[in-house]
Amino acid sequence: EVENSEETNTQDTSTGMEREQVKKTDSDTVKSDEKTAGQCDTEGKGNDEATDTQREKNQKAESIGKRERKDSTPAVYVPVERRPEIQESRLQLPILAEEQVLMEAIRENPVVVVCGETGSGKTTQIPQFLYEAGYGKDAMIGITEPRRVAAVSMSHRVAHEMNLSQRTVSYQIRYEGNVTPETKVKFMTDGVLLKEMQKDLLLSKYSVLVIDEAHERSVYTDILIGLLSRVVPLRTKKGNPLKLVIMSATLRVEDFTQNQRLFKIPPPVIKVDTRQFPVTVHFNKRTPGGEYLQETYRKVCKIHRMLPAGGILVFLTGQAEVHALCRKLQRTFPSASGAQVKNTTETKETKKTKKDQKLPQINLDNYTIEGDADQADDGILEEDIDLDAHIVGVDDEDDMDDSAATATSDSELPMHVLPLYSLLPPDRQQRVFLPPPEGSRLVVIATNVAETSLTIPHIKYVVDTGKVKKRFYDKVTGASAFQVTWVSKASADQRAGRAGRTEPGHCYRLYSSAVFSDFQTFSPPEIARRPVEDLVLQMKDMSIDKVVNFPFPTPPDVEAVKAAEQLLVQLGALQHTAKPKNPKVTPSPVVTPLGRAMARFPVSPRFSKMLALGEQHGLLPYVISIVAALTVQEVFLPSSGPAVQTEEQQELKDAQRRVAQLKKTWAGQGQSLLLGDIMVLLRAVGACEFAGCTKTFCEENGLRYKAMTEIRSLRALLTNAINTVCPGAKVYVDPNMRPPTELQAKLLRQIMLSGLGDRIARRVPAEQISDKAHRFAYQSTSMEEYVFIHPSSVLLKIRPEYVIFHEIIETGKPYMHCVAAVEPEWVPLLVPNLCTFSEPVQDTPPTYDKDTGRVRCHRTSTFSKLGWQMPSVECD
Ligand code: CDP
Ligand code: MG
Repeated sequence: EVENSEETNTQDTSTGMEREQVKKTDSDTVKSDEKTAGQCDTEGKGNDEATDTQREKNQKAESIGKRERKDSTPAVYVPVERRPEIQESRLQLPILAEEQVLMEAIRENPVVVVCGETGSGKTTQIPQFLYEAGYGKDAMIGITEPRRVAAVSMSHRVAHEMNLSQRTVSYQIRYEGNVTPETKVKFMTDGVLLKEMQKDLLLSKYSVLVIDEAHERSVYTDILIGLLSRVVPLRTKKGNPLKLVIMSATLRVEDFTQNQRLFKIPPPVIKVDTRQFPVTVHFNKRTPGGEYLQETYRKVCKIHRMLPAGGILVFLTGQAEVHALCRKLQRTFPSASGAQVKNTTETKETKKTKKDQKLPQINLDNYTIEGDADQADDGILEEDIDLDAHIVGVDDEDDMDDSAATATSDSELPMHVLPLYSLLPPDRQQRVFLPPPEGSRLVVIATNVAETSLTIPHIKYVVDTGKVKKRFYDKVTGASAFQVTWVSKASADQRAGRAGRTEPGHCYRLYSSAVFSDFQTFSPPEIARRPVEDLVLQMKDMSIDKVVNFPFPTPPDVEAVKAAEQLLVQLGALQHTAKPKNPKVTPSPVVTPLGRAMARFPVSPRFSKMLALGEQHGLLPYVISIVAALTVQEVFLPSSGPAVQTEEQQELKDAQRRVAQLKKTWAGQGQSLLLGDIMVLLRAVGACEFAGCTKTFCEENGLRYKAMTEIRSLRALLTNAINTVCPGAKVYVDPNMRPPTELQAKLLRQIMLSGLGDRIARRVPAEQISDKAHRFAYQSTSMEEYVFIHPSSVLLKIRPEYVIFHEIIETGKPYMHCVAAVEPEWVPLLVPNLCTFSEPVQDTPPTYDKDTGRVRCHRTSTFSKLGWQMPSVECD
């Protein structure tokens, strides 16, 4: 209905999406489902029928209430004294009608799933129901949120509604919280609860846990649900039951309910129906490209000037965009108090953050820092956006006069513009819930936190850019960056639905219906997109040892998990315990201190090991640059081309000769030269940064401009992420990065070896080579065939005996790219997990070290995969 029309059409967002039936699982579900179905049928019918359904529902609830209890949990009523106006507004929420059914289901079942449209009152009301039912008497009621903004905001709201202080209804987010010994209701991020489970797996302080926004399927939420599926039966066995409530804004919950490995008995699903008014969806005829922000501005102006009263909610992707639009709108439509305008646009905090970052202004439109699940819209690193550029006209179908977009007039209705994003301080977040000043129009410029986490009242118009910032992972380094992409159809519908909460509304989609029809139906769970190696290490770091058997709602590939474990053992991040507790069970490797250090870095394990060691030796800025450079493909222009025939080709040839000469200079001598192509990369990054990363510099020096700008963004991204996860590191992107000293170059070679230990190659002795084509061949662990140093490498003529490489690419021959020399005696020391060691050798007697209490001896070693004899080393 919506898809095939460029014209205005009406979509009932409450029923238009996800009319999937949740499979009925047991008697309880059947009851609540029947009721819901009954209620759905009355949609659009007269009031009488609706009242009938209500009566029916009450009767059903009563009959359930009278049934015998399966569970011994006492129903102690804890009175709450709410203010009359609060009580009145609560009664409007659809969830209130379900209280009895819901609480009965929770009493009778260890796990309950609640599905209800955003705004139906799940987050604010269910914790109150639980509190009133006595779940907070001897233990806490815990609620997890994937976003910090929701944890903070909801704890305030619930405390306010219950007329209790934040000493009783509190929150805890990563670095901040107000939990006291009196806390009964605790809102927290899912990451915080995972950390708590590391200390107390049974979560004995809680009587009930509510996992909110489960439909978002963040990795942490998935892991939490997996863990809790095991904790709940354990607590029942102990006679101290723990209740688990999974809340979702959509009906797509079969990964939780129909997953035998997760819950043997499928949990009942309670559906909450929401009164939703029709929302008219308008598509743009043309989809704006990069200028969607200007288009958003234009649309908001038009709505404000032409359409009747009602709040406008705008969906953008990040903090910088939110501020840019707020600023621009506030300048066009000054609000009643000018002081507030200034205050809203640039907070002291953002200014301070920017100064503290010490980062150059770089183009990071699409990138922001990595870290918590909700940092997509923190945008600390985002560039300031200037929206004063020319406003581009776009044909659309919104029946509004185009001149309204850019016209200015003095007798404008004031606009009450408010920003909303994850890192906005709590008191400022709260402002979106208050009615706007008399006679002004509320305009909330938000990131996707307003999609399902927070419901803003008084919204009649939604302007949807259709964009969201999502984390993408680099296949090579596992470094992740947030990039702006299209949302899913489900998200777009959720956004539209925000306009029809209190009366019929309008949603303006700034993209065409053709673009919409290409959207994914749902976004896949984060676990399906995340590299498995990183996931395994993270989980081991949380002391979840058996990742292969872990009851994931959506499990990753078992073989991939096993391969990841193997790589992590080889890298020394995991270790097999000496004595398995139960000899019958194959032991799973456990995390080592090195693994813990690695787990903090947001890149794949090979590279996080390099970073962890780089940090240890004060070489982080170099290692960050190397990781960034290795992530980007083809930094240099190709070094060999077609035979010279034309003048142009001759020019290219000359340029290539210059590049080869430059590489030679950059490689230098001694240790520096032995660091080989890695050294060249480092010098290229340093020189380019010093020159301000200009196109001219890149062209003159045979560097690909696009690659260099990517490296630049990645360096900033990684630096920032590392400062977030290890505040002690205090790294920054130095525009004058000096080349490493001899000693540093040697250490860097060792660091590279420790990360790329299995990508090692040894030169085949000349006497073993009969075929001339195999001259200077190497034997590697990666393939049976001989491999060769790529002709563009600065080590081509040096031909070190042992080298490590970043990758092998077949172009005519299997060539090793990004090569550095390593010393054979480092191999048993730095990659011991790939070596086998002999008994202590006889000719060097063992020694005893009084200080450490260790006996040291010498053992010879073999590089096990290929049987290379390595030098003997001193061992314990
Ligand atoms: O969780 P769910 O999306 O089902 O709804 P909710 O977040 O509990 O919101 C229920 C109602 O409370 C909505 O109408 C919100 O606008 C309102 N609310 C509010 O007025 N002030 C807050 N700080 C939070 C919610
Ligand atoms: Mg909610």
